[in-house]
Amino acid sequence: MAQLDVRPLIEGRNFGVRISGITREQTADPLVREAVNALFEKHGMIVFSEVEPSGEMHVALSNIFGSLKDHPSKAVARVDQDAMPGVIDMAMKPGDPGDIDVDGVTLASWLPWHFDHAYNNELNRAGVLRAIDIPPEGGLTGFVDGIELYDALSPELREKIEGRNILYRMNVIMANYRFGAPARYHVHSEKPSSDMVMEESAKVPRAVHPAVWTRKSGEKVLHLSPWMAEGIENDETPEGEALLDAVSREIVDLSKDLAYWHHWKPTDMLIWDNWRALHAVSGHPPQYPRRMQRTTIKGDYGLGYFEGGASNDNKILERTY
Ligand SMILES: [Fe+2]
Repeated sequence: MAQLDVRPLIEGRNFGVRISGITREQTADPLVREAVNALFEKHGMIVFSEVEPSGEMHVALSNIFGSLKDHPSKAVARVDQDAMPGVIDMAMKPGDPGDIDVDGVTLASWLPWHFDHAYNNELNRAGVLRAIDIPPEGGLTGFVDGIELYDALSPELREKIEGRNILYRMNVIMANYRFGAPARYHVHSEKPSSDMVMEESAKVPRAVHPAVWTRKSGEKVLHLSPWMAEGIENDETPEGEALLDAVSREIVDLSKDLAYWHHWKPTDMLIWDNWRALHAVSGHPPQYPRRMQRTTIKGDYGLGYFEGGASNDNKILERTY
């Protein structure tokens, strides 16, 4: 096996590594695959830089980590499914609805801290992202490690939130975003597909995930998605809401120091552990287009369920978040 060029993503920190120059040929090498998977398991995130900027490479790289999920939802645009199964397309053009004012700045494509598929019982293992159209300003994707968040959370909140389960519902109405929302937050317009998504999600039970879980390797993970959280299971009280809000606010605050924000290049691809990291999108000035593509790696951590023990048939169609 040719030696991989592996460096820490942030000097002195365990979260994330950067691997430069992996080739499509190497993605098929069993020893490379084993080494890359071990790095992913240990560090929770890999930025691949200087890779061939093609859909074929995106799929080849993703396949190192497992099988890909397709997105069955009609509302999710997919790249040519015959040529590129499992690659979904997320494009924002100037003039598209969805602009949000965050702390006095108008942004397109802004997204709060979250993990993907919180609204379902099963959590995909990972997402692999690449950028097709990169705005000249903003458009960064942020990642924060749940292990680092758990360790940094104030002992008082840690004691209160550990052992609690969080209720989630697919809620894409950005004006409804509450827990940990910026102090100055104003939604100009919702996306046109939002009503259809909300109609779909109103019919299904809420999903439940633990706020803190323990990895097989022993680390505890604070894994609470402020976006789409609705409350604490068996504690939908003012006190429960206040606790969820306090933890969400602390996640947002801690992320100011702990998060890694990725500035995209066309030759980058990155993977994050969806059972461990939270991610967010910085947003960008609305006059620029932004287009991203993502694959989703199958899997489940086995700790989520539907409220009241509802069956798996209730699963809502998964989307890009
Ligand atoms: Fe997401």
